[in-house]
Amino acid sequence: MEAMASRAGRTVAQATGYLAFVPAPLPPEPSVQLDPEGTDLLSRADQALGKLEGIATLLPNPDLFVGMYVRKEALLSSQIEGIDSTLDEVIRFEEGDEPAEGKRLHDTAEVVNYVRALNYGMRRLAELPLSLRLIREIHAELMHGVRGENKAPGEFRVTQNWIGAKGANLSTASFVPPPVPDMNAALDNFEKFLHERREHPGRPQYPVILECALVHAQFETIHPFLDGNGRLGRLLIALLLHERGVLLKPLLYLSLYLKGNRLEYYDRLTAVRKNGDWEGWSKFFLRGVEQTALEAVETARKVIAFREQAMRTASALGANESKLIEFLFAHPLTDIQTVEKHLDVVYNTAAAAIRRLESAGLVKETTGRRRSRVYRFSTYLDLFEVPA
Ligand SMILES: Nc1ncnc2c1ncn2[C@@H]1O[C@H](COP(=O)(O)OP(=O)(O)O)[C@@H](O)[C@H]1O
Ligand SMILES: [Mg+2]
Repeated sequence: MEAMASRAGRTVAQATGYLAFVPAPLPPEPSVQLDPEGTDLLSRADQALGKLEGIATLLPNPDLFVGMYVRKEALLSSQIEGIDSTLDEVIRFEEGDEPAEGKRLHDTAEVVNYVRALNYGMRRLAELPLSLRLIREIHAELMHGVRGENKAPGEFRVTQNWIGAKGANLSTASFVPPPVPDMNAALDNFEKFLHERREHPGRPQYPVILECALVHAQFETIHPFLDGNGRLGRLLIALLLHERGVLLKPLLYLSLYLKGNRLEYYDRLTAVRKNGDWEGWSKFFLRGVEQTALEAVETARKVIAFREQAMRTASALGANESKLIEFLFAHPLTDIQTVEKHLDVVYNTAAAAIRRLESAGLVKETTGRRRSRVYRFSTYLDLFEVPA
């Protein structure tokens, strides 16, 4: 079979008979050329991210809200890989209450790992540039415990892998990433590209959003881990936006768009490899950034308005209710015993405060039981609803 080459790389026949793809180094040669539509998409994506960064400064308690956005992105990004959980399960797991068993429990643990991996990466960026070392550290967090154990957490692969339907092998795979030596060379180049801006500030650079698009696609093509490449590649987007100072908090849940357009997502990645179509991929990516950034701005607006209204309602009810509402923003699933401790009141007072918030429509009892009831801050959680 004839070797196929494109601007994105070349297909190389391996001695054992299969074809692997070896990416060309970033940046693409010739460079990415946006047509007028692309230029327009770029400036709109840019503006939308600017709005999102702006509204972040208005959030009353940024860490709490950002935490919810991060959980939302973690759920969506994991769902793309067939990992199923819900916001409620994630929150309960984080509170030490493991909600289910079997696959459900594993999946929830992986989503919680994703949240931890992203937070870890953001913190670590204060000490270390986005680099292969940091990528491996984040992968170790992502794959910690659970099913990743036999999948070399934190280690680049030392064997050939492939992407394909269940049961596919190296010859029938839809895509075979670079063999290990080529993978290592591609990773070195990938890291150089990440450091380019810092090391050669004088050189013309790609706008940051386009840089994210290139970095994500290249990472998926290199596919350097045995598992977790999709999720890690999507984490890289938030980390890069942070490191470049474009979006300091991880407020963009691009996975909503990638999940909703999953087949096009994969087709666009394939077209980069097959036809060198960096332009098509970039435009697809820019559309997603604009769309999800504007949605996140809308969510932030709703959250800000909701918080004001909820605080007003609660303070009209009394001091305990006010304190309880504050507590619920941090712990949106709770029970009477927990509230009793937090408000430092007797059981009946705690129960009465919850009941008053329930009557005001702010919380809902979720179990239907008479004992060990769980109260859900539904009016708040529903603002972050992840479509199933
Ligand atoms: N044809 C393709 N070419 C390149 N990358 C692809 C292709 N199809 C899927 N991918 C990427 O591979 C990811 C899945 O890889 P995997 O290592 O299983 O990630 P995860 O463990 O996070 O599930 C997808 O999310 C997508 O980003
Ligand atoms: Mg996987």
